[in-house]
Amino acid sequence: MKRLIPYLALASFLLVIACGGGESKKDEATSKQEKMAKIFGISVFELENGIGPIKEKMNLGQLDAIKVAAGKKLFESKCSQCHKFDEKYTGPALRNVTKRRTPEYIVNNILNPDEMANKHPEAKKLVALHATKMTFQNVTQEDAMNILEYFRSEEK
Ligand code: HEC
Repeated sequence: MKRLIPYLALASFLLVIACGGGESKKDEATSKQEKMAKIFGISVFELENGIGPIKEKMNLGQLDAIKVAAGKKLFESKCSQCHKFDEKYTGPALRNVTKRRTPEYIVNNILNPDEMANKHPEAKKLVALHATKMTFQNVTQEDAMNILEYFRSEEK
């Protein structure tokens, strides 16, 4: 009987793998997100879209040149002391941030950087990497939307 134990252990291990494999990729990704959100004490929506005033998906239309211009001006006066587009500076390089984060995440990060830095796993990683926290720049939600529009226009 003793000699059978390793085989039994292996068999039950394989059974677990086989059953796990029956789950679809999507379910796996979802349950991984659920676990991650639970660990950090935030919702799955917040994990994907950031923590802040934006609590549901936004509808972004085509690029609006007036908003882009307003966003550029705001960026230059309130953000460029810490951010460049193509290189890490005090904060991360922001070109193509629109590809690594959802629009809602970006706006929440701009409007609520403190809570993001304290609670969100991705923002926490960036804080560690830059050894600094982003500070709120006294922008309105409309300002943040205009900056997002500017980021979208600079995407490559
Ligand atoms: C005092 C320096 C500083 C200023 C000013 C600043 N940031 Fe940041 N920003 C950071 C740092 C540091 C991080 C990464 C750590 C964190 O999130 O706190 C960051 C993170 C970000 C992120 C997240 C990037 C990612 O990959 O997830 C975005 C988006 C962002 N900043 C946009 C802005 C915008 C827009 C402004 C102007 C309204 C701005 N920042 C002003 C320092 C700054």
